[in-house]
Amino acid sequence: MRSSALSFLAAALQLGHVAQAVITDTPTVENFVRRFSATAIVIGNYVYIDGGEISQLDNGRVNPARTTNQVNSTLSLDLSKSWTTTDVVFKTTAKAPGPVKANVVLWADRARNAFYSWGGKWVYGENMNKTELWKFNADGSGGGRWRLEPPANPSLFNGLIPAEFIAFTTVNNTGYAIGGQASGWTELYRGSNQAISGMLTYNFDTREWTNETDPTGFTPFHSIAQASAHYVPTFGPGGLVFVLGGHHPDTDREPSISNSPAQNFENLTFFDPGAKKTYSQKATGDIPPSPRSEFCTAGWQNPDGGYEIFLFGGDNKIATGKPKYRDAYILSLPGFVWTKLPEPPAGARAYHSCVSVGGRQILSIGGTMIGSTERDDAPQGLLLFDMTAMKWKDSYDATAAPYERPEAIKKWYTDGGLEKVGWNSDVVRGLFVKQNAGEGGGNGKTPSQRWQQVVPS
Ligand SMILES: *[C@@H]1O[C@H](CO)[C@@H](O)[C@H](O)[C@H]1NC(C)=O
Ligand SMILES: *[C@@H]1O[C@H](CO)[C@@H](O)[C@H](O)[C@H]1NC(C)=O
Ligand SMILES: *[C@@H]1O[C@H](CO)[C@@H](O)[C@H](O)[C@H]1NC(C)=O
Ligand SMILES: *[C@@H]1O[C@H](CO)[C@@H](O)[C@H](O)[C@H]1NC(C)=O
Ligand SMILES: *[C@@H]1O[C@H](CO)[C@@H](O)[C@H](O)[C@H]1NC(C)=O
Repeated sequence: MRSSALSFLAAALQLGHVAQAVITDTPTVENFVRRFSATAIVIGNYVYIDGGEISQLDNGRVNPARTTNQVNSTLSLDLSKSWTTTDVVFKTTAKAPGPVKANVVLWADRARNAFYSWGGKWVYGENMNKTELWKFNADGSGGGRWRLEPPANPSLFNGLIPAEFIAFTTVNNTGYAIGGQASGWTELYRGSNQAISGMLTYNFDTREWTNETDPTGFTPFHSIAQASAHYVPTFGPGGLVFVLGGHHPDTDREPSISNSPAQNFENLTFFDPGAKKTYSQKATGDIPPSPRSEFCTAGWQNPDGGYEIFLFGGDNKIATGKPKYRDAYILSLPGFVWTKLPEPPAGARAYHSCVSVGGRQILSIGGTMIGSTERDDAPQGLLLFDMTAMKWKDSYDATAAPYERPEAIKKWYTDGGLEKVGWNSDVVRGLFVKQNAGEGGGNGKTPSQRWQQVVPS
């Protein structure tokens, strides 16, 4: 009996009858198809990747009944060692407890070696529940634990509309969530779609939430969705938050991204989070085409005090067929000049996430091209970019030298580019270029050299 059952099993295995591929959060390079709508953040020596969907080969094909699956664990990548995109090993941490979502906001609380997850959508609407703030306490070796972080002011918190496609960033001990879109996938029992107006902040120390629109009326935009926010610590009195791209949907009716005005990349908007003031400045150079939404940004501070924001890909929601962009750019500050980068080796993408890693590199994670089931040419959906050499590559170098501006951008400054910037106002110039009366911005240093060095987030 027993031996015949065993030999039947052996025969079945040989014939492949019971040889089932296993659906996993981290498929092999061979089985990997696409990862998208995941959010990444760096804490200590690890990149954490949370949420999103994955498409993979199961017995040699994508399951047509369910082409993507929600990712049930939090992944991490070790930045203390070098790796290639074909031999990289993901560490996984179970998400139970913790919400399994896509397009979440992540805020870095580096003082506590932790990050927070807010908003996003429940993939396939499975296990929907009240939206809470979740905190991941990192353990210093790529793992950690999720737990609920209850708000100090629950009455305000309970009235907030949870959304996805929010522009978010962290400024010191405060998380920012700007705009977004709410739907029946982002909030339990929600019956209609809605664009979110204004901006939320969450203070990690007091655990207090603020809807900035209500107490202070401070909101950089009436509405914005599918944009990207990036905190630049170098300029202004305490750093500035740039909010790039995306659309301004109506808030008083069913929002339509494709019928709403897009934010272009020539007239750039940023705000001073301390003073609660919004500004704009005209940029020059290779202006990225718009409309552009769901692209990624990351940045590096320059040793002489400047700052460069990297921007890659995104969606064109207005053009027929909604093509994805495959182009990438650097915005150099304080010059407000865009430089087009070489095209990446692995095709267009949107719904990806980018982080600054290892001295001078950018890591791009995931993204969709047309749909979610055409195989990503980038192994594991990972692409790396060396910001100084301005080169795409397929490996991470743990020993890379610290960031320095690429030669082409350095040359723009040494050729006197900064002196030719047409500032929108003296106030805006003052945020970027410090000039003491009678000194003419001298001191033998470039104006930006006088700004204090702050670790970028
Ligand atoms: C995640 O869990 C759900 C069940 O809750 C399952 O349907 C899905 O396949 C899992 N995802 C992966 C990638 O294994
Ligand atoms: C919803 O949240 C409650 C309270 O945290 C928890 O007890 C319950 O198991 C959750 N339900 C689902 C479907 O996750
Ligand atoms: C913040 O307040 C504004 C004005 O009352 C409101 O329209 C918006 O929906 C609120 N934001 C959230 C996330 O609930
Ligand atoms: C952030 O922290 C830095 C360093 O402590 C400080 O100089 C800056 O003013 C802070 N910025 C804001 C907006 O609080
Ligand atoms: C630039 O954007 C701001 C909003 O941040 C707007 O008030 C201003 O009119 C725009 N300027 C131009 C020239 O379009």
